[in-house]
Amino acid sequence: MNQAKKLIYFDNAATTFPKPQTVYDRMDQFIRSEAANPGRSGHRMAVEAEAVIDRARNEIAKLFGVKDPHRIVFTLNCTDALNMAIKGALENGGHVVSTQLEHNSVLRPLNALVKAGRISLTRVPHSKEGVVDPADIRKSIKKETRLVVMTHASNVTGSLQPVREIGKIVRETDAWFLVDAAQTAGCFPIDVEADAIDLLAFPGHKALFGPMGTGGLYVGPRVELSAWREGGTGGDSKSPTQPEELPFFLEGGTPNAVGIAGLSEGVRFILQEGLPMIRQHEFHLISRLREGLGAIPAVTLYGPMDAKHTTSTLAFNLKGVEPQEIGAILDQSFGIAARAGLHCAPMIHQSMGTYPAGCLRFSPGYFNTREEVDCAVQAIREIQKNFSNP
Ligand code: ALA
Repeated sequence: MNQAKKLIYFDNAATTFPKPQTVYDRMDQFIRSEAANPGRSGHRMAVEAEAVIDRARNEIAKLFGVKDPHRIVFTLNCTDALNMAIKGALENGGHVVSTQLEHNSVLRPLNALVKAGRISLTRVPHSKEGVVDPADIRKSIKKETRLVVMTHASNVTGSLQPVREIGKIVRETDAWFLVDAAQTAGCFPIDVEADAIDLLAFPGHKALFGPMGTGGLYVGPRVELSAWREGGTGGDSKSPTQPEELPFFLEGGTPNAVGIAGLSEGVRFILQEGLPMIRQHEFHLISRLREGLGAIPAVTLYGPMDAKHTTSTLAFNLKGVEPQEIGAILDQSFGIAARAGLHCAPMIHQSMGTYPAGCLRFSPGYFNTREEVDCAVQAIREIQKNFSNP
């Protein structure tokens, strides 16, 4: 724990650390005294465990402006939710519009469907700052377009996308709009109604402060998916096929109830602190970081120049030094945890000109401080000095 205290953890875009104390306490309490199989039996303990899961659904629904909490389906992580949405929506094929910003959790399922001859795909480019133009999405939608799928913010540059504008464009058509909220759920406002989102995939373990092994998918009323993981749901055992009502249709098998109990505390923490407060703190951190690193002549920054247009994520390179090497020095000599390389998003690196080495990514979170930002900037200055005067 002391060791964890000394670490400057700047890898919150991969998973948040630490979590609010209430998340740890709740999971410990739940697994020791409440963890019956939710809804599988009529006894009080199982009924209570199901109530814990229902509360989590209600809290998440509140955060994303979802009217009917049953439309929130729990998944293993955001990748699981994206696969459920992509493959469930495209069982009968069709045309898909996506972008070059995407993470492998979107790129790979789409590429596999193209390779199998099941779908056709249009991938729209992005600006130098890593932002997609809604007009490009509009131009790409055809009569047979079934799905538009894109990230809410790049996991490399943090660049926020004009999701609301794009949602409105997609809503005028017969296509469904799937948003990958891996980088925004919990730290940036999302309203599925106002943003015209049909499917929202989100991780539990990032800005929602839950543990790994949690995530979810919002399934809007315009959408019909095919079943994903068929199996026991606790109710309607007589039905020979998966019960059709949500969330059971997509939730076969025992859920990660311990994780969901923790996730529920994470979401409650956000609702109590207030999302604007979280956003404001992270905005200050990332603005300071951008300013500090931007003042080092050998540093190249990627993504939008104004932190108003990003999440708390900053991508950069130091002239003449491999990003992986800087990552290792930061870790070993400065106790700073950051992610170097391609960040599982190879296409954006190709268009930014950082492929194949990638870049370094700092992603401070709500529990980081401005002093830690200053230490990280100083660390990059020192590394730069050592490399220029070996
Ligand atoms: N998708 C996570 C990241 O960008 C793991 O680091």
